[in-house]
Amino acid sequence: MRVVLLGPPGCGKGTQAQKVCQEWDIPRISTGDILREMVRDGRDVGLRAKEYMVRGALVPDEIVLELVIEKLKEGNARQGFVLDGFPRTLPQARGLDSFLQNAGRPLDLVLYFDVDPETLVRRLSARRICPQCETVYNVITNPPEEEGRCDVCRSELLVREDDREEVVRRRLEVFEEETGSVRDFYLSRGLFFTVDGRGGALEVFERVKEILRKGHING
Ligand code: AP5
Repeated sequence: MRVVLLGPPGCGKGTQAQKVCQEWDIPRISTGDILREMVRDGRDVGLRAKEYMVRGALVPDEIVLELVIEKLKEGNARQGFVLDGFPRTLPQARGLDSFLQNAGRPLDLVLYFDVDPETLVRRLSARRICPQCETVYNVITNPPEEEGRCDVCRSELLVREDDREEVVRRRLEVFEEETGSVRDFYLSRGLFFTVDGRGGALEVFERVKEILRKGHING
């Protein structure tokens, strides 16, 4: 199964991507996570990317596209993958399309999570992340067992740097500016499906599974 998960910041792409990957046993390729890892490791690309990420802007297409294509060439992505947060611009969508067509592995589906702006802001302001193992929590809907500590590796949980209110607002604006062209690109190919992203994470996952199964995607 080769799927793209799209939607505004906080719509639950990462949360749903993890569930789909577990259920179908395929890798998750999250451009946000890859970039954050590179920032943490102090890599040159990471330092360049950070300048954009801290202000809620998109990292340049050529950087992101190259990172994703590297991942797609890895052996474990040959049986399928979930792309989380990529592509976000028309050049990224075209670059991905051309790589996958040449590799004879076209996309099966693009799922767009529709969530109202108030819910997005509420979810993001309550998000906490583990800097060590990257588990995502929400102090309201999915709190850790011990306040402020990761259930998995016991590290201290953090607020993501770009979850500050003014940066969230900018990320939402950028998303609005870029999303139309990407949606049209996939609509014209008959791949674009909208999922109601409101409600609890398990409820949303039931909707996702229904669409993936109706699409007869099993492999
Ligand atoms: P990225 O990390 O991709 O951030 P994003 O798209 O802004 O998305 P988020 O991770 O904020 O939200 P999400 O939809 O994954 O929601 P989550 O599941 O965590 O990108 C960060 C930055 O990197 C960008 O701003 C850009 O600079 C750069 N970048 C990344 N990709 C790029 C690209 N392709 N091109 C250029 N630049 C790129 O959920 C959010 C919270 O809500 C969590 O606390 C979660 O527990 C909770 N939650 C989730 N679902 C539910 C639910 N159903 N009910 C209640 N709570 C829920």
